[in-house]
Amino acid sequence: MAQRESWATRTGFILAAVGSAVGLGNIWRFPYQVGEYGGAAFLVVYLLLVALVGFPVMMVEFTIGRHTERNPVGALKRVGRGAWTKIGWVFIAAGFVILSYYSVIAGWILRYTAIGLQGNYAAGGAGEQFMSVAGGMGSVVTHAIFMAAIITVVAFGIQRGIEFSVKLMVPAIIALLIGLAVYAGTLSGAGEAYAYYLSPDLGTIAANWTAILPAAAAQAFFTLSLGMGVMITYASYLGEDRNLAKDGAIIVALDTAIAFTAGLVAFPVLYTADLTDVVDGPSFIFVSLSEAFSNVPFGGILGAVFFAIVTIAALSSAISIMEVVVSYLIDEHDVDRLPATVGLGIIIFLVGLPVAYEPNGLNWLTVYDGFANSILLILGGLLLAIYIGWIATDLGLDELSKGIQDLGSWGIVWIWTLRIPVIIVLLVVLTQNVIGYYDSLMGIFG
Ligand code: TRP
Repeated sequence: MAQRESWATRTGFILAAVGSAVGLGNIWRFPYQVGEYGGAAFLVVYLLLVALVGFPVMMVEFTIGRHTERNPVGALKRVGRGAWTKIGWVFIAAGFVILSYYSVIAGWILRYTAIGLQGNYAAGGAGEQFMSVAGGMGSVVTHAIFMAAIITVVAFGIQRGIEFSVKLMVPAIIALLIGLAVYAGTLSGAGEAYAYYLSPDLGTIAANWTAILPAAAAQAFFTLSLGMGVMITYASYLGEDRNLAKDGAIIVALDTAIAFTAGLVAFPVLYTADLTDVVDGPSFIFVSLSEAFSNVPFGGILGAVFFAIVTIAALSSAISIMEVVVSYLIDEHDVDRLPATVGLGIIIFLVGLPVAYEPNGLNWLTVYDGFANSILLILGGLLLAIYIGWIATDLGLDELSKGIQDLGSWGIVWIWTLRIPVIIVLLVVLTQNVIGYYDSLMGIFG
């Protein structure tokens, strides 16, 4: 059994977890979800889900991880009984699928960084430009470059590779995004953008909640890296003196603040450019936002900065997904880190090829993303909530209370939040997402 290292510094764990949380979810996905689901209405529902569902589920992953000191498959084998020992497989499957397309999108973002540096984004031709980046051999090559980068970092080991890289990345992301948000605030469309993004209308939420809720829940899980054992794995390297609730609160707050700030950049730029043909969906930051950048002063260089931030953020997130699958092979099958990382990296690269190659469309992306994000992650979170909420309650409470002197009745509040509201919300969301996924498959293949 491989020896467990622990985090080298007190803040190492927080930085690594924030590095995992902050990624494409915050800056690629969040703005287009806000756009698709009505601006501030989505923002409100998303914030509620982060606090009332995301945070409690994060505590579940932390307690299981620190208690077992294992990768998620090993962790559940160790604490679970019967079918519970098998649910770790949901996590590994989710990790495979997510990383395979995550790397493809990160590759496109890398290309957009280069395009901005070379000059500017194609004003008027943003849609065509995106289609040429997002399909064919070019996209396969950038996917390969990104996977190679992940393999390199993870092969060096969790402590040296990951902790070092996120120490630089997280502060850089925060500083650059705040700078861009301040700049965006000076643009002429800022007022209108803030009205759209920041003033929720209860009527809109009430009328659309059946659409907003499942999307916002999937977004919350994705952006907090929940539902596939990343936080189990990271907490497995954590000492018993750490206050899990406090660390979790910091991680959730930073992740949410960064997504929120990404919106403060995207919407003012968009409103200022006054685009008539804004596209929502996965191509949003590539088409609408890049075109908007091409319309504002210094657009090329600002766009390059923006996409560079996203590239960095994507790298530290991708590393966390890879680390789950690699640590599983190391712990459970005694494979060495280097061959495990390289072998898995190649397989995941191959799994992502349809998404990378598909010319003139994003159907494979929809197929992969819908399955992993809106179904597997929610399912994983639901099972974990049931497990600690109803079955291994004592394990959860004991572990949570280590490192917290004044837990008081908060432990019980946490358990009861898991037991009823979290489980109900996740069941509703899962059902909706399965139906929605079936419909989208029919739309594509039917
Ligand atoms: N949270 C990351 C993002 O926002 C993506 C991510 C990393 C992730 N690890 C994960 C998503 C585990 C789900 C599960 O981009």
